[in-house]
Amino acid sequence: MSGMLDDYAGAASTPDVAVHETAAELCDAVARNLVDELAAAQARNGLASVVLTGGRTGIAVLERVRANPRIRNVDWSAVRIFWSDERFVPAGHPDRNEAQARDALLDHVPVDPRLVYPMGASDDPYGTDSATAAAAYSDLLRRMERPDCPLFDVCLLGVGEDGHVASLFPGHPASEEPLLAAVSVRDSPKPPSERISLTLGTIRSSAEVWLVTTGAAKTAAVADAFRGNTDFPASRAVGIERTIWHLDREAAGGL
Ligand code: 6PG
Repeated sequence: MSGMLDDYAGAASTPDVAVHETAAELCDAVARNLVDELAAAQARNGLASVVLTGGRTGIAVLERVRANPRIRNVDWSAVRIFWSDERFVPAGHPDRNEAQARDALLDHVPVDPRLVYPMGASDDPYGTDSATAAAAYSDLLRRMERPDCPLFDVCLLGVGEDGHVASLFPGHPASEEPLLAAVSVRDSPKPPSERISLTLGTIRSSAEVWLVTTGAAKTAAVADAFRGNTDFPASRAVGIERTIWHLDREAAGGL
């Protein structure tokens, strides 16, 4: 299978780092940048497109978007919303990244439901198998890709202590998937064990990748990723035009 998602997989930016004094300052800064970037993408293309992530920092960023006065600069009805990964549990379950993003932001802005693309849930009528749900997401992305511009303006990613991003864990076969745009992940070391994730090729087809992580538990993973540990999916998560790691002082402590 070939297409834009594959074509962009070779073009990669060199990661930049932004260090923020505290986690709260990081979330405010990323929220402000996100609002500005979505508004700029809309000025350029009409539609903007963002990939949301799960995890504490990713969700805290969305809460800060909601609180930011510049939120009004974005036409939320013209933002396409995707997810980097999803926990394969029933729809509406509080563990779902979708449910958390809705609570934090999406239920509070006038999104167009037709432009919100959650990954499948374990009680979906079309399949209770995460591989079927991942294939459906993969097909959706393949149908939407266009030759002239990246599908995602910004891909937000949290980072795990083990160097994972989305639900791509070091050494897991899903992290090496070469063809599909989204994969099913079983035996995830981070609960719940069954998940769906964008693949690295898809993440790397984003115009910009913003990694967001905070706290002393992430210091070693961040330092290792920057030393080029290619076992870490986080080291390989780069955007075409820009890659930026937003770190608080603690997470940046090993750089
Ligand atoms: C998930 C995530 C995952 C997360 C990281 C960081 O669904 O669990 O998408 O990749 O972003 O584990 O999570 P924290 O910010 O909570 O450390």
